[in-house]
Amino acid sequence: MGYDFDKIIDRRNTGSLKWDQYPDDEAISMWLADMDFQAPPAVLEALRKCVDYGIFGYPLPTKELAEVITQAMEQKYGWAIEPEWIVWLPCLGTGLNLACRSVGNVDDEAISFTPVYPPFLGAPGQSKRTLLTVPLMLKDGQYVFDLEKLKKTITPKTSLLILCSPHNPVGRVFSREELLAVAEICLENDIVICSDEIHCDLVMDDVKHIPAASLSSEIANNTITLMSPSKTYNIPGLGCGFAIISNEKIRRDFVEAEKGILSTPNALGYSACLTAYRDCEDWRLAVVDYLRKNREVVYDCINNELAPLSMQKGQATYLAWIDARKLELADPAGFFREGGVILSDGKDFAAPGFLRLNFACPQGVLLVALCRMKRSLAQLQSNSLD
Ligand SMILES: Cc1ncc(COP(=O)(O)O)c(C=O)c1O
Repeated sequence: MGYDFDKIIDRRNTGSLKWDQYPDDEAISMWLADMDFQAPPAVLEALRKCVDYGIFGYPLPTKELAEVITQAMEQKYGWAIEPEWIVWLPCLGTGLNLACRSVGNVDDEAISFTPVYPPFLGAPGQSKRTLLTVPLMLKDGQYVFDLEKLKKTITPKTSLLILCSPHNPVGRVFSREELLAVAEICLENDIVICSDEIHCDLVMDDVKHIPAASLSSEIANNTITLMSPSKTYNIPGLGCGFAIISNEKIRRDFVEAEKGILSTPNALGYSACLTAYRDCEDWRLAVVDYLRKNREVVYDCINNELAPLSMQKGQATYLAWIDARKLELADPAGFFREGGVILSDGKDFAAPGFLRLNFACPQGVLLVALCRMKRSLAQLQSNSLD
């Protein structure tokens, strides 16, 4: 079945965080990580059925939902999980914070690799833990873990490592060897891993996502995995995600940390989640195909036409991580926003001078945004000649 990702849907004035937070009428919004595409038709149909049914009582995740997730883990990753390992969450931001609150003790340390999705930097402090950061290294055009730096950063108070895999913003899909190396360092130092794998179904290259917990039963026993259909099927506003935790103690502590505070996902979220994982594989393949084409457009344009900007090619996610340091501007995001394109500011990811561009939009919109960025750069260059 063909899907029309070229269709432009105006999201302004719809209560959209991405499009209405900065209401510059003309600016193209490419900051927040949601897609400008409608959710899969099967998901829309399932939601219509829920609305037609019309009773919105307290929901329960169905047995079928847990089975569908269990099967998906087995089929995609050869990872055998038990339904009772699944802990439902209203969103994965909550999962990150619960991991920080439930592992170890107050004043412990949690490690994040940087640059990284901003809540990885905020969650430890919000949970009365100290954040330690280990920069990713750029090696042969790819961002990789700096294992020596990781080992040197760990102290006896380090109890958690929060891993973003695939990585937002750099788009890496880490290999088995890379993940094993990190997981073994964590095991040796008694550090629990919280592996946020929200982007795992958005892999564009011929590489496989490997859940950290699927590496071995020992590593599974030391890992909290976070997953959600929200990024891949563009349903983050429906608030439905989950953790998979095989270790009974870690799971009990995680659940204990949310007692009396969190609500479960809502009925529409559960329904969309079930339909997305069960019925939408052809849509997922189609959207990943479209994203891959957009990635090529962005990569070629940034590296060949928008000097001195540059970027590496991400393997997953719909995010381009752009190095704008050679512009030597105090506020590169503000500069491009003046020119009509709203990007995420790298300083929020612990990387000032970088920009993140979300290319999950119709290609026509992407081309206009890139033209605007080119125009801004041309103006800057002509001003510097004046
Ligand atoms: C790595 C990562 N984790 C979590 C989230 C947020 O997920 P949720 O909307 O379920 O809180 C995002 C959103 O961009 C993300 O990139």
